[in-house]
Amino acid sequence: MKGVSHPTNDVSLNPSSSHSIRDVIDHVDASRRQFIQGGVGAAALASAGGLTLGGLVSTVQASPSRSGAGFPGIGFESVPVSRAPVADLVKVPAGYTANVFVSWGDPIMPGGAPFTGTASETAADQLKQFGMHNDGMHFFPVDDDRDDDRRQDKHDDHGDDRSASKRGILCVNNEYTHEEVLFADGQVGAGYTIAKTRKSQSAHGVSIVEARRKDGKWSVAKNSSLGRRITANTFMRVSGPAAGHALLQTREFLITDVASTPTGNTSNGRVANGTVNNCANGITPWGTYLTCEENWNGNFGGTGAVDTSATTEIGKLNRRYGVSAAGFGYRWHTTDPRWDVSTNPNEPHLFGWVVEIDPYDPKSIPVKRTAMGRFKHESAQYVVDKDDHVAFYLGDDERNEYIYKFVCKGKFRKDRRAANRNLLDEGTLYVARFDADLTGVWLPLTPESIGLDGQALRENANFVGADDSEVQAKILIKARMAADAVGATMMDRPEWTGARPRINGFKEVEVYCTLTNNNRRGSSATPSSNLPDGSTAAASARPAVDAANPREDNVYGHIIRWREAGKSVKATAFTWDLFVQAGDTLTAKVAKPTNNYQGNIVDAPNGSVDYGAPDGLWFDDFGRLWVQTDQVGDGSGDFVNIGSNVMVCADPNTGETRRFLTSPNRCEVTGVTMTPNGRTMFVGIQHPGEDATAANPTQYSNWPQGQFAVESDGVTALPPGRPRSSVVVITKDDGGIIGT
Ligand code: FEO
Ligand code: CA
Ligand code: CA
Ligand code: CA
Repeated sequence: MKGVSHPTNDVSLNPSSSHSIRDVIDHVDASRRQFIQGGVGAAALASAGGLTLGGLVSTVQASPSRSGAGFPGIGFESVPVSRAPVADLVKVPAGYTANVFVSWGDPIMPGGAPFTGTASETAADQLKQFGMHNDGMHFFPVDDDRDDDRRQDKHDDHGDDRSASKRGILCVNNEYTHEEVLFADGQVGAGYTIAKTRKSQSAHGVSIVEARRKDGKWSVAKNSSLGRRITANTFMRVSGPAAGHALLQTREFLITDVASTPTGNTSNGRVANGTVNNCANGITPWGTYLTCEENWNGNFGGTGAVDTSATTEIGKLNRRYGVSAAGFGYRWHTTDPRWDVSTNPNEPHLFGWVVEIDPYDPKSIPVKRTAMGRFKHESAQYVVDKDDHVAFYLGDDERNEYIYKFVCKGKFRKDRRAANRNLLDEGTLYVARFDADLTGVWLPLTPESIGLDGQALRENANFVGADDSEVQAKILIKARMAADAVGATMMDRPEWTGARPRINGFKEVEVYCTLTNNNRRGSSATPSSNLPDGSTAAASARPAVDAANPREDNVYGHIIRWREAGKSVKATAFTWDLFVQAGDTLTAKVAKPTNNYQGNIVDAPNGSVDYGAPDGLWFDDFGRLWVQTDQVGDGSGDFVNIGSNVMVCADPNTGETRRFLTSPNRCEVTGVTMTPNGRTMFVGIQHPGEDATAANPTQYSNWPQGQFAVESDGVTALPPGRPRSSVVVITKDDGGIIGT
């Protein structure tokens, strides 16, 4: 995620020279060279001197990668690297086909109008169309069996469930809007109107789409009664320990197409309107969708002064979560006072949560689950352990933030979906400390937890309350500050979490988390940390390197993983290691004392699958690990050798990695899911042509229409005019399982 209305992705520029294959061999250590010899043969590499790696890759015949514990192997050959000028295409391996399934502006429910191509749509039109800039997603099978208990996660039943793999509900997050492309006139400055605010708000949230497969072609059921939009104005419930707290009581507005009008009442802290900046996602084992609110702070602004004092309660919250008068440049607050923090200071406290949605019931009210804590949620990956306890692993994506887990108090009932309905309302939120000896501790965030200052959190001025239930509410609303107090480990931007297996977890592999980058790691001779009193301004600390975040100026990111003690999600101790440090084997970037920008990706030949800024991460139901990247999308600067953003597939046992997909110019690859039979994969392409101006929306990208004449239904033409974030559908030409 990066864009006009979003913070930068912290990419630093670095001129780089090209290298011959022989140089590459000289760069690798003895063990890596061994791997090359096994993979290609040193003679072949030596004779290939002068070839670019991309050219070489396409000449190397890959044999299937080996299967191993919990890993079924990889059967495809890597797609060649796509370097600048990045081809404005989605490319997948030989034997696979990608088509565009649904794009921003496509109709998804009865009454929806087709996309015009000119963005002349109104807010009312957008409310029945697919939202902008899609991110995390999940395919929920519909097998025409109305038994509610069959809707629980069937991930271990994948077999060859053809009926459930022909029809489903695709829930897709719509993270943010590129306002210059969203509006026909592209005007986002003075003169921003309530009509624009409403259209922008309607392009945020979640799009729920019915997907059908007929005669081998996937299409959106455009008139489906299951189609639904959840937006920045959708009515929601707030539940769990923080519901009703004074900090969640806010000005009540009558929200119409033309105004948000104060009623004069204050809400009861148990309701909210809307969800924004829905980044990655999760699901529950009982078959509901979780959408995670990430950079919600940027959607707010102030027409007057905004409290950012380091001593007041609201000021500390605004500092710690990055709420400011300027926001990220959205102008909603200029026409919709609900988003004006200078006059409505409690509204931001209703954002930063995980929201649970029942995709099978279009009338269901989404629920903000406060027990899972308030921060900049990236994703929410569940694990059910052998005792049927369930935990959700949660990343807070900002520089120097933390990894959390939420353990439900109740057990998962696999035989009765209804019994699981409120499991997310009671439990314990923990934050991770990663120690140098490769062990770690889950620190509970509860009133009795002892902070670094020797005080229980209930005695800490930030959380003090009338009783422990109020203390707990404040701990959850100010989760970042509670984590500061107990000494959690500051991480290099925790993005997605992933686990395999998700049910009866910890048998084979572990929980993984992408740490995408951190240009503040080790960047100061006088390191600073998030202060234990919770007064740090968001992303301002400059931590030293540590065992879990070992590289200064971590441009390329890494992936950490852990294994719970006793194979129990309730464990407070774990062991961890780094699965991979991403990097550029060809880099000319000068290594710093603790750094190695080349990373240790296992590929063949060495350097052929280099990638950076891992973000999306997901285990499919067969055990393959898929990683998606979010770096600068035009292959410039530090990414001249790495090229476009990609999706790779990795063996969690050996680290062996292959490149499955290269992406259009200036986009990010984010969001992935499969049908239960594994024969169809959906992948998200976000913000093709990022940073294009209003005057020339297709300046950098004309995708998807530049690649595809029609949608995956084989019929619907793609109108020219604007690049569009889209979901692509990928199948194997022989009908096989994706990845084989
Ligand atoms: Fe929206 Fe952290 O990516
Ligand atoms: Ca991005
Ligand atoms: Ca990212
Ligand atoms: Ca992300």
